[in-house]
Amino acid sequence: MRALVLGGTGMLGRAVTRYWRRRQQAVLALSHGQADITDRHRLDECVHQFRPELIVNCAAFTQVDRCETERETALAVNGAAVANAVAACESVGARLIHVSTDYVFDGEAESPYAEDTATGPRTVYGESKLEGERQALRYPAALVLRASWLFGPGGPNFAATIRRLLTRATEPLRVVDDQVGCPTYTPFLARAIWDLSVLGMRGVVHYCNREAVSWHGFATEIARTVAPLARIVPVPTSEFPRPAPRPAYSVLETTRFETAVGRRVEPWVSGLAAYLGEHS
Ligand SMILES: NC(=O)c1ccc[n+]([C@@H]2O[C@H](COP(=O)([O-])OP(=O)(O)OC[C@H]3O[C@@H](n4cnc5c(N)ncnc54)[C@H](OP(=O)(O)O)[C@@H]3O)[C@@H](O)[C@H]2O)c1
Repeated sequence: MRALVLGGTGMLGRAVTRYWRRRQQAVLALSHGQADITDRHRLDECVHQFRPELIVNCAAFTQVDRCETERETALAVNGAAVANAVAACESVGARLIHVSTDYVFDGEAESPYAEDTATGPRTVYGESKLEGERQALRYPAALVLRASWLFGPGGPNFAATIRRLLTRATEPLRVVDDQVGCPTYTPFLARAIWDLSVLGMRGVVHYCNREAVSWHGFATEIARTVAPLARIVPVPTSEFPRPAPRPAYSVLETTRFETAVGRRVEPWVSGLAAYLGEHS
């Protein structure tokens, strides 16, 4: 499956590229500098040269707090520009897998969000990603893949930050305990993208690793490996006010993925063990 990866040097873009190479499939990973998704002409040029069967859009303005003050950029990159990826796909008959996020939901549910649960973003980032989904879904050969709480090689992420803080900490670490979600290891997500592309899935699919945990629970598991004697104190969200409100509950229902692909989503603890093992 000949694939072009937009945002190919980001955390997920690298994992997808690596997975395609491992399977000895042709893949072209384009960085922001090589192909700005807001530049339709440039995308068309790349697509016509490489002629992919699939475009995986991992390009996004992902700094959730900055999106609050840089609304225009967020809406342009995460929203309107997805139409450029669609046009590029159309021009060569390629399929599109567009990566989206749990932030399209309100974060106030008490049971997992299904693909057809009503959206209701509470942040500019979520709003811009929802607009990107709308643009993608105009294309019949598009799949919107919503994921959550990514961690993996090659990007700033919660696991990397906690690991770094734990190795330097002299004081107990204070970590939020009233936000719950599903950490997702990018190499597992890359495998899911592969599986879904082989099946030719369309519409909206959720993918995240199991089981749901709070940030405090996630940090505690990281500490178990890298600093077993460290103290991690659970604190409420109100202790860390942020420009963009964080969802209290961000668990995605993954039955559609599991039924289509014929396996359960992987446990995040396995991904964490692999991640910490690789980066020890
Ligand atoms: N990280 C998470 O926890 C999380 C959770 C759920 C869903 N997602 C989604 O997963 C996808 C991948 O996220 P990630 O964590 O891999 O993010 P990332 O590491 O920030 O990667 C995003 C990439 O997009 C590039 N980019 C930004 N603006 C661009 C533009 N105008 N044109 C082309 N490329 C551009 C960035 O390049 P520069 O850095 O050079 O600008 C970066 O390489 C995104 O769609 C994100 O919304 C992420």
